[in-house]
Amino acid sequence: MKFFVDTADLGAIEELLELGLVDGVTTNPSLVAKTGQDLFTVLRDICRLVEGPVSAEVLATDFADMLREGRRLAEIAPNIAVKVPLTPDGLKACRRLVAEGTAVNVTLCFSPAQALLAAKAGATFVSPFVGRLDDVGHEGMELIRDILTIFRNYPNAIRTQVLVASVRSVPHLVEAARLGADIVTAPPQVLRALVAHPLTERGLARFLEDARQSGIRIL
Ligand code: G3P
Repeated sequence: MKFFVDTADLGAIEELLELGLVDGVTTNPSLVAKTGQDLFTVLRDICRLVEGPVSAEVLATDFADMLREGRRLAEIAPNIAVKVPLTPDGLKACRRLVAEGTAVNVTLCFSPAQALLAAKAGATFVSPFVGRLDDVGHEGMELIRDILTIFRNYPNAIRTQVLVASVRSVPHLVEAARLGADIVTAPPQVLRALVAHPLTERGLARFLEDARQSGIRIL
């Protein structure tokens, strides 16, 4: 499973790159707004750092303007994936941009039917939002299970990768891996939390104390 980081914070991306946890980046307008910087500057800087796909979301809601914005975003760097919402206009824009050779991430997916439409539109990625489904009393990971089951029924026809988004916790990420999702995008704090375990910390402290007491040294 690939790990994308869901942030527009350059410092966090640099830190996680060193841990090998950045196979790609996803941004959205809310995340870019948090940086207080110009959209194009932020995206250019991220694309300079990261080799994998960097999702950049359109702001328009109608087909013609989504297309214009998507083309403009795609010019930033070859690894830009244009993010469009799962609406009729978004699906039309997806078809066109993919036909032009641009990678497209269809976002704000909340049902298996919507995911199927993204796949029919030739999306490179579809982003089901698990956390936001949990927020309204649904089982977010159930959606991932359903989408993967459906996509696996059509291995030759569907190439769309399932990009699990709105990930809020380590269990979300582990469950996505258990189900065999292609990609998880998670905020930096979730990726950082993956490494932590109290028994690792306790075990390390014990080893070091035993070494200190017996005078064992390497250097
Ligand atoms: O990638 C989509 C993600 O940013 C949404 O996450 O936590 O705002 O639901 P969240």
